[in-house]
Amino acid sequence: MRYRCDTCGHGSPKWMGFCPACGSPAALAEAPEAPARGTPVRVARVVPLPAVGGDAVPRRPVGIDEVDRVLGGGLVPGATLLVGGEPGVGKSTLLLQVAGALAGAGGTVLLATAEESTAQVALRAGRLGLAHPGVLLAAESDVDAIVAAADRLRPDLVVVDSVQTVAAAEVDGTPGGVAQVREAAARLVHFAKQSGVPVALVGHVTKDGSIAGPRLLEHAVDVVLYLEGDVERGLRLLRGLKNRFGATHQVGLFEMGDSGLREVPDPSGFLMAGWDGEAPGSVVFPSVDGRRPLLVEVQALVSPVVSAQPRRSVRGLEVARVHQVLAVLDRHADFHLADRDVYVSVVGGLQVRDPGVDLPVAVALVSSFLNRPLGPTAAWGEVGLTGEVRAVAYGDRRAAEAARLGVAVAVGPAGNGEDRIRRALCRAGLPPAS
Ligand code: TYD
Ligand code: MG
Repeated sequence: MRYRCDTCGHGSPKWMGFCPACGSPAALAEAPEAPARGTPVRVARVVPLPAVGGDAVPRRPVGIDEVDRVLGGGLVPGATLLVGGEPGVGKSTLLLQVAGALAGAGGTVLLATAEESTAQVALRAGRLGLAHPGVLLAAESDVDAIVAAADRLRPDLVVVDSVQTVAAAEVDGTPGGVAQVREAAARLVHFAKQSGVPVALVGHVTKDGSIAGPRLLEHAVDVVLYLEGDVERGLRLLRGLKNRFGATHQVGLFEMGDSGLREVPDPSGFLMAGWDGEAPGSVVFPSVDGRRPLLVEVQALVSPVVSAQPRRSVRGLEVARVHQVLAVLDRHADFHLADRDVYVSVVGGLQVRDPGVDLPVAVALVSSFLNRPLGPTAAWGEVGLTGEVRAVAYGDRRAAEAARLGVAVAVGPAGNGEDRIRRALCRAGLPPAS
C-alpha cells in the first residue's frame, strides 16, 4: 500500500502524520497501488476526425428567426443555455415566446418559474396569445423537484426562471448566493446532459455585473446569450457570447411592444428612423455585430463646464475609449476639450464593443464643439494614440449598409489603409483650427 498527501499528491511507501514534501499537517492517506508494469490499462477510443460528423448536430429550430440565428440554427439536444440580462429587459417574455413557438409547433416545454406565480405567467401568455397546452408551468423553487418533473415529462425544452431564485434543499447558502447558484446550475446541466433535454437558465445581471449568477455560470453552460437594450426604449438585442455548437457573436434584434418581443427585420432602418444628420454632434456609425452591419447614431455634446470638475458622461460604450479620443483630439488635432463637459451616447440603448466606434466619437465631439452639423455622414475607424486612424474589419459591409440607408458620406480608412485623425476630420467637413 502506498500513501499520498491530499494537498500536493506526494507519494510515500510509509504512512506519516504530515507531508514531508509540502509540509501539510494532514496525515498521508492510503492510496491504491499504482498498476504494475505490464498490467493492461484502458485505452481511450480514438476515431478519425472525418468519421465524427460534427456538422450533423441535430437542431430543432425554435421557430423565431432572430432566436434561431443566435442559436446557430436551433436547440441542440442536451444543450444548456444561459439567458442573461438586466431585470426587466424581457428575458421571461422572450422565453415564454420561445416556449409558445415550440408548443405551437407541437412540442412541449416545461416552464419552471420561481419568480412569478403560474397565474402571472398565464396572464401574460394569454395576453401574448401563447396559451398553448404544450406549455407546462411549475411554480417551483426546489431544483430537484424541477429536475424530477422534467425527468418525468421529457419535454423539448426546460426553462428555469431564474437560476438565482431556485435552490438545492441540502446546500447551504441563500438562493442567489454563489454556492446555491453553482449547485442548482450543476444539477440542471447534469440533467440536460444525461437526458438529452435542452435546458435554458435565466440569469439576472446588474449593470456592474456584481450579482452572483450569470458570470460564474458562463463556463458551465454550452450557450451564453445576453439580452440587452435600454429598458425604457423599445429595442432589444439578443447577443450570443458563447456557443459550443455554432458561431458566437451572432445577434438578433427585437422591439418590445404591447404584444411582447417583435422581430425587427431591418434594424438599421429601425434605429435610423427620423434621423437626418442636421443636428451638430450627431454621426452615423455602421457597427458590425457578429457579421451583421447595424447602423447606430453616435451623439456627443460638448458644453461649458458647470462645476469645478469637467463632466464625462458616456452611455453605450466604454468610457476609456472616449477619454482616449479626447486625448488624441487634444494632441493631434488641436481640439482642446479638457475644460469642457462632455457627453457621448449611442442612441438606442445598445452597448457598442466594436473598436471602430472611435472615429465616430471623435467626429461627433468635434461637430458639437464647432456647432457644425454634418449632414448624412457615417464614420468608422479605430483611433490610435499617435493620431492614426486604423481600418477595422468589414469596411465594405459598413459602407454598403450606410449607403443602403442613404448615408452618402463615409469617413474612414479604406480597406486595410491608415488615415490620420486630422485628415479624417477634414473629410467630415471639420477642419482643425490650425
Ligand atoms: P420581463 O420579461 O418580465 O423581464 P425580465 O424577465 O428580464 O425581468 O419583461 C418585463 C418588461 O417588459 C416589463 O417592464 C413590461 C415589458 N413588457 C412589454 O412592454 N410588453 C409585453 O408584452 C410584455 C410581456 C412585457
Ligand atoms: Mg423575469
